[in-house]
Amino acid sequence: MILLWLFALPVFLFGFVVLFGAPYVPSLRREVRRAFEELYPLGGNDTLVDLGSGDGVVLLEAARCGAKAYGYEINPILVLVSRLRLGKRATVVMGNMWHAKLPDDTTIVYMFSVSRDSEKSVRYLKAEATRLGRPLAVMMLGAGLKGLPVRASYRGHTLYEVVPGK
Ligand SMILES: C[S@@+](CC[C@H](N)C(=O)[O-])C[C@H]1O[C@@H](n2cnc3c(N)ncnc32)[C@H](O)[C@@H]1O
Repeated sequence: MILLWLFALPVFLFGFVVLFGAPYVPSLRREVRRAFEELYPLGGNDTLVDLGSGDGVVLLEAARCGAKAYGYEINPILVLVSRLRLGKRATVVMGNMWHAKLPDDTTIVYMFSVSRDSEKSVRYLKAEATRLGRPLAVMMLGAGLKGLPVRASYRGHTLYEVVPGK
């Protein structure tokens, strides 16, 4: 019985996520590094937020560049893995990213998302840009942001600017 639970729990934790957003598929660190170098060179003045931060690979790359790094992740196993991996180099919050309030000093948001959530992402990001009272740079992988103009793109990564307003 215990063995069954040990098997079922991770399956459940990784499976139930599809009700809330993209399933766990990690970005490739090398590709993340190149995408930031090409589209948005990160530095010490940046605060990056990864919405659905998985095992922390994007946070690791942001920290390497000297940026402050925050992740929001709904899967407790991945929260634990990324906290162990990153230590004090990043803050990983466990919870539903759609309810997250971005830190005031956020400069760039990263999302590896699915097309089903494109309009929801636009609504969320617009609301947060409006709350913060300034535009937000957003780097997307997987799905784009429906209806918003593309700033630049590189091998699957697309950079947007989300401005306050409706
Ligand atoms: C495609 S993975 C991307 C992981 C990481 N950002 C990367 O690029 O390697 C999507 C992640 O979002 C998490 N996720 C999905 N829906 C979420 C939600 N509503 N709130 C927080 N995390 C969520 C999943 O558990 C998964 O780890």
